[in-house]
Amino acid sequence: MNSIPRDKSLDSTLAVVREGFPFIYKRSQRYQSDIFEIRLLGMKTICLHGQEGTKLFYDTERFMRTGAIPRRIQTTLMGLHGIQTLDGEKHHQRKALFMSVMTPGSLHKLMEYMAADWRYSIKQWANQEQVVLFPEVQELLCRAACTWAGVPLEEQDVTRRTRDFRLMVDAFGGVGPRHWRGKRARSRAEKWIQGIIKQIREEKLHVPEESAAYRMAWHREPDGKLMSLEMAAIELINIIRPITAIGWYITFAALALHEHPESRARLRAGDEEYLEWFMHEVRRYYPFAPFLGNIVRKDFEWHGYQFPKGRLVLLDVYGTNRDARQWHQPESFRPERFRSWNGSAYNFIPQGGGDYSFGHRCAGEWLTIETVKLAVTYLTRGMTYDVPPQDLRFPLDRMPTLPKSGFIIENVRSAN
Ligand code: HEM
Repeated sequence: MNSIPRDKSLDSTLAVVREGFPFIYKRSQRYQSDIFEIRLLGMKTICLHGQEGTKLFYDTERFMRTGAIPRRIQTTLMGLHGIQTLDGEKHHQRKALFMSVMTPGSLHKLMEYMAADWRYSIKQWANQEQVVLFPEVQELLCRAACTWAGVPLEEQDVTRRTRDFRLMVDAFGGVGPRHWRGKRARSRAEKWIQGIIKQIREEKLHVPEESAAYRMAWHREPDGKLMSLEMAAIELINIIRPITAIGWYITFAALALHEHPESRARLRAGDEEYLEWFMHEVRRYYPFAPFLGNIVRKDFEWHGYQFPKGRLVLLDVYGTNRDARQWHQPESFRPERFRSWNGSAYNFIPQGGGDYSFGHRCAGEWLTIETVKLAVTYLTRGMTYDVPPQDLRFPLDRMPTLPKSGFIIENVRSAN
């Protein structure tokens, strides 16, 4: 039996907060190991890094989610007892519900709404001296997401509803005020969306049968009962909130375009293959999800290491996407690297890895891919703008992170 390398510090909780994204990555390099042990809030925790670690992490025979997601993240980012916390048949059934709204036809419709919103927003921005891209793009995404999902949203409410979705995401790595702001935002959003579900169930609001709102409102649990009002709202928010979160990637994409004019030139010329690589490289290079958690289901051994039942295991999302064994010169932004990517479900995991239906891999990954591609197309071919001097640094010790300025643009003009 091998012993798992142990981090020297007595408890790493503060170091995780202080170091942020590279916490596991740095230690896996320090110990020259894809596996090591720390203590987190006093609890022994195994950290996994890299492709092999990811393959293990997504083995649902050996791991479960029950008990893996801290309550403070459920009460802000995800909602209590939502899909992310389910296992086995219950998870499989709930996941099928989410995947049922991700059909090509449905995504095509969403892209049409988004394209219309990009055109509308570009016209508005052309009348403003300066535009902070991040919040503006989030509003655009929120409008399109609500229309698509069957959730009525008055124009006068767009800013505050979008802000609440933003605060929920912003809370995931925060303590104190950031956490409380996220919690309050979640309460407001859940109340609002519960009202919508109720209206649909009482047939006071009619929405298309293929919409997410309809499906969540009428979804039956394995026992044949309708999902509770609270759960239906949580899961509908689990569709709309992450769509607005794509604003983080779009803002990073704008930063990449600014810092890599050669990429902009190829995209402007309409190079579709390059657009695919560029979108992937944005999701690989820029940090968003730092790590994921699982609980050991039953004792097992892996490469001679003992995994005892009940142990918390963290997967290094940030570091696996920059593992030099898979990604040559991982710290350089190079979309062409995706020309030779093998498409593995375990070495490129910005939105989780493994299988969509049976594992917890992001239900909205295809949607995210199309949304980022559409945004990059508008940023390169649908509009022109200038980027004035500003603070574009994004601190890695803050989760989530973003260019400090929010990415300011000016002299916006529609390209058509
Ligand atoms: C799960 C990231 C966008 C819906 C996840 C996971 C990650 C992730 C890391 C966890 C994977 C795991 O636990 O193994 C992201 C990022 C996004 C994004 C970075 C883009 C900014 C979306 C979108 C949707 C969505 C647009 C829906 C429209 C979900 C759902 C889950 C999930 C429902 C839970 C899946 C499950 O537990 O089975 N996402 N996501 N996400 N995501 Fe996303």
